Amino acid sequence: MDLPSSVRIYEVGPRDGLQNEAAPVATATKLEYIALLRAAGLREIEATSFVSPSAIPQLADADEVMRTLTAEADGTVRYPVLVPNERGLERAIAAGADALAVFTAASDAFTERNIGMTVDGSLAAFAPLVARARALGWWTRGYVSTAFGCPYTGRVDPERVVEVSARLVEIGVDEVCVGDTIGVGVPSQVHDLTARLGNAGVGTDRLAYHFHDTRGTALVNVVAGLEDGVTCFDSSTGGTGGCPYAPGAAGNLATEDLVYLLDGLGIQHGVRLTGLLVAARFIGEALGRPVTSKVGQAGGWDPLSGQQVL
Ligand code: COA
Ligand code: ZN
Repeated sequence: MDLPSSVRIYEVGPRDGLQNEAAPVATATKLEYIALLRAAGLREIEATSFVSPSAIPQLADADEVMRTLTAEADGTVRYPVLVPNERGLERAIAAGADALAVFTAASDAFTERNIGMTVDGSLAAFAPLVARARALGWWTRGYVSTAFGCPYTGRVDPERVVEVSARLVEIGVDEVCVGDTIGVGVPSQVHDLTARLGNAGVGTDRLAYHFHDTRGTALVNVVAGLEDGVTCFDSSTGGTGGCPYAPGAAGNLATEDLVYLLDGLGIQHGVRLTGLLVAARFIGEALGRPVTSKVGQAGGWDPLSGQQVL
């Protein structure tokens, strides 16, 4: 197998993870979680969302979270924030953000329920936000959710994913992140999608994958992405998030599971498993439940010494 020698791990626990947790998490606890993620070596940590607090009450403290991170920042960590509209961008600017993520999907039904717009409407709404962020020198990302299936309308045409991704590139995002929101994809679909995206000008130099482990396929899909030359993967330390469409089921791929795989494959990423396990257990305790990830439960394992790690 010819796999990339290094990849970026884009941590989504504080945002995608915590937005889907029922238990309230104090702002100070979020900041400590983020500090532990940083200590583990993560350098891209999606911090929060400047969305309507009535839509996502879990992230209503976005201003304070981001202001604190900005005040402590030393320039070595990127903290992207989700922004749905001009109001969100104003809040993000005021809090000192410098990396923006806009979020649409390959399904109109999902996008309408999520942000009250059609996919085309969302792209039109995001274009000026991305333009303004770029003029400010920010890094920008565009999400395409429901890329492998929609919780409301089922099958998603991969050509629609390609079309939306290409539009995001036209709007000017630095990176397109394609997400398996309900965790239904399998490796053959990943290979097919990466190839189609490449043909449409969305090459692996600006493509990230966001897999959910709802049906146990997240890591095999990561391997498929690696085989295609993709070098950025999203994950959530502690496997936070669950799945809003399947109560009790897994959602985000856990960062510790991803890191265990990458370590074994000899792929560089800059993150230490032991530090992640500390962060995973910290957030598990804060949420009042055991860590759901495989490695979080079993601990790591060092093949050289044959020893359990943490
Ligand atoms: N920050 C804070 N408040 C905001 C806001 C923002 N960026 N955008 C809108 N609001 C407030 C409005 O002031 C209004 O408040 P009120 O009810 O007290 O008057 C309320 O939210 C609704 O605003 P409106 O402009 O009518 O928008 P909407 O109801 O059509 O909602 C979104 C559109 C996009 C703002 C909302 O659906 C949203 O924030 N969605 C985020 C969903 C999300 O994050 N999903 C997970 C990521 S995949
Ligand atoms: Zn997710």
